Amino acid sequence: MIVGIPKELLHDEQRVAATPKNVTRLIKQGFEVLIEKGAGKSANFADALYIAAGAKMSDSAEKLYAEAKVILKVQAPTEQEIELMKEGTVTLSYIWPAQNEVLLKKLAAYKINAIAMDAIPRISRAQKMDVLSSMANIAGYRAVIEGANYFGRFLNGQITAAGKVEPAKILIIGAGVAGLASIGAANSLGAIVRAFDTRKEVAEQITSMGAEFLTVEIEEDGATDSGYSKVMSQAFIDAEMLLFKKQAEDVDIIITTAQIPGREAPKLILDYHVEAMKPGSVIVDLAASTGGNCTLTKPNEIYTTENGVTIVGKVNQLPAQASQLYGNNLCHLLDDMGKAENFNINMEDDVVKRAMVTYNGAINWPPEPLPVSPTKPKVEKEVVLFDKAEQAKQKAKKHARSSAIGLGVVGLLIFGLGQVAPTDFLNHFTVFILAVFVGWQIIWNVTHSLHTPLMAVTNAISGIIIVGGLLQMQTDIGNPMSILAFVAVFVAGINIVGGFFVTHRMLKMFRK
Ligand code: NAI
Repeated sequence: MIVGIPKELLHDEQRVAATPKNVTRLIKQGFEVLIEKGAGKSANFADALYIAAGAKMSDSAEKLYAEAKVILKVQAPTEQEIELMKEGTVTLSYIWPAQNEVLLKKLAAYKINAIAMDAIPRISRAQKMDVLSSMANIAGYRAVIEGANYFGRFLNGQITAAGKVEPAKILIIGAGVAGLASIGAANSLGAIVRAFDTRKEVAEQITSMGAEFLTVEIEEDGATDSGYSKVMSQAFIDAEMLLFKKQAEDVDIIITTAQIPGREAPKLILDYHVEAMKPGSVIVDLAASTGGNCTLTKPNEIYTTENGVTIVGKVNQLPAQASQLYGNNLCHLLDDMGKAENFNINMEDDVVKRAMVTYNGAINWPPEPLPVSPTKPKVEKEVVLFDKAEQAKQKAKKHARSSAIGLGVVGLLIFGLGQVAPTDFLNHFTVFILAVFVGWQIIWNVTHSLHTPLMAVTNAISGIIIVGGLLQMQTDIGNPMSILAFVAVFVAGINIVGGFFVTHRMLKMFRK
């Protein structure tokens, strides 16, 4: 079965649907690969690399479409491209079906089985095919690099002999895949990072990545079962605008990533926000292609406003890296569809039936909704919480009862022992019990961050135990004292060696 990779026609598109590495993988999957001459050029992949990987070259798109059964593309096929395709061709590309009804009609009329990579459902199984995530991750990282470039100052704070440099402040609006990637990159470059999102569930992700989570004083959550945000109420948007006004006066770079699927991007940075920013500040608008989050964004342009704010409406796609990840996503989907040998379109499959937007001459859009993995239905959550609370109560009751019985039995045993044991033994025994009890309580309550110093203390105690044990060991091996001393030395030894081993593993995690 032949897989064809045509040259992208859109002028600004630098990516290619498969890199030479992807070609090697496609051949392993049993496909023959036909690639149009120069298809990888703008992503820096020369034709020779494709030939070396085992692909055949096609001089013209016409020949490629006539021969290939499966077409891999980045941008949606154009009308002219569709007209070149054979009936029954399977295409994998972006399509944006919600906004492209005319295109869907044309694909259906030509009986093209078109898979919209942007419509792959966001379930755990399909993460490896999720082009929206892999591309958003790159865009989020690159937005910080572009922002830093146009900002023209350090992002991190420094104290040098020449003077103190304040760290840059970056505000990230929208903490989905792109926003979180931006937070990671900005944080690693040393900036002070703040982030805002309508979905409250992302607060923990934002703070765990080292940014400050900004909120508004309104009890409204943007989260939906689909995992995406809903359109917020006017009161919420007004409060958001006020927050952004204050932030605009303070921050140096704003990166916007807010999207609502199937709609134009929400307008969040208005003219007066831009006016409030300091000269030299930068706005990077990652939503530019869907209308922009900033009212002054010009899609595919970078310009500076009269008050000195640079607005970036396009970011470098990192075409080589992006093509590689995009190609990987496509290869994963072809794996799932049975590779070359068992290639089939299974319309019962959760992923294929939702992403196959035209099939056998019919439009298959919109699909039935499917909740994304991280969001569970709210009702279910409450029931589970109630069950858990009830279970915890029952457990605590049971535990208290068995503890009381246990304590009673131990008390009786100690009382009995006190009646028969010599006084010397009782003194030592009391110290032993107290040591176990106090030691247990102290170690159990030490916070995780203090475990390393705790380990040092336990190693010191183990050292004392080893010295004590060695002093108590006698030549008579069968003597109970010697046996106890040996056990003490052995157990303390495990503690010390284990401590070193764990420390070594922890240190290894921080080494690059
Ligand atoms: P997206 O690109 O559609 O939107 C980006 C962000 O903008 C979202 O976090 C959204 O809440 C936010 N936003 C929308 N309106 C806003 C407003 N007025 N103000 C501020 N922020 C606003 O979303 P993306 O990045 O594609 O993913 C959204 C979620 O989908 C992720 O956080 C994740 O939970 C889920 N997901 C699940 C995957 C899976 O396979 N299970 C894969 C990828 C994402």
